[in-house]
Amino acid sequence: MSDPIADLKQRILQRPAARLLTDWFPRLDIHGGIALDLGCGSGAEAEYLAKNGMMVDAIDKSQAAIAYTTERCQGLTVDAIQGDFREFELRPGYYTLAVAINSLPFLKKEECQSLLERIKVALKPGGAVVLSVYGLEHAWANRKDMSFWMLEEFKLLWSGWEVLAMNEYKGPWPLVSGEEIFQHRIHLVAKRPAA
Ligand SMILES: C[S@@+](CC[C@H](N)C(=O)[O-])C[C@H]1O[C@@H](n2cnc3c(N)ncnc32)[C@H](O)[C@@H]1O
Repeated sequence: MSDPIADLKQRILQRPAARLLTDWFPRLDIHGGIALDLGCGSGAEAEYLAKNGMMVDAIDKSQAAIAYTTERCQGLTVDAIQGDFREFELRPGYYTLAVAINSLPFLKKEECQSLLERIKVALKPGGAVVLSVYGLEHAWANRKDMSFWMLEEFKLLWSGWEVLAMNEYKGPWPLVSGEEIFQHRIHLVAKRPAA
């Protein structure tokens, strides 16, 4: 008989890296360097980046997420760090790539905005961001402890950057539990201008 806990763990550990990252990473012309993965969850994106030549600082506040990431990224150049990314020191000009898939929405709007500003500064000139935030039509949009953006408002944050993709997705999307909810996501891929 199958064990539901073991099955869930397998599902979590086998989750592939986000398409947003796997579709765009090969086109970013990044060859090595240090990547930051904010809210790494079970470590799929960190694993992908390490297997593609990067050193990765993978941060998550959840002990379980860090345990999954550590297990998944054994032997790879991934530093799995348990902590709150609102308080994590981001060194200016240190990272070549910053990834935040589905994690920034869990901050209040002003916290999200301030972290985005710090992420911009933490990237090297020519470095890239690959991230997702949620739009106003998301099923959870009435939650006060999360952030939701209008596309036009979000776009303003990236003026002066080379925006390679800024796409909206609206539709059903499965959670890790298997439950599907209506999601409104804004996906961004952008490069900091070279100095
Ligand atoms: C929906 S999961 C996404 C995980 C992974 N990036 C993915 O796409 O599957 C959001 C993750 O962000 C983490 N997170 C949320 N707020 C955080 C914070 N303030 N500091 C660090 N991690 C946080 C959660 O613990 C969770 O693992």
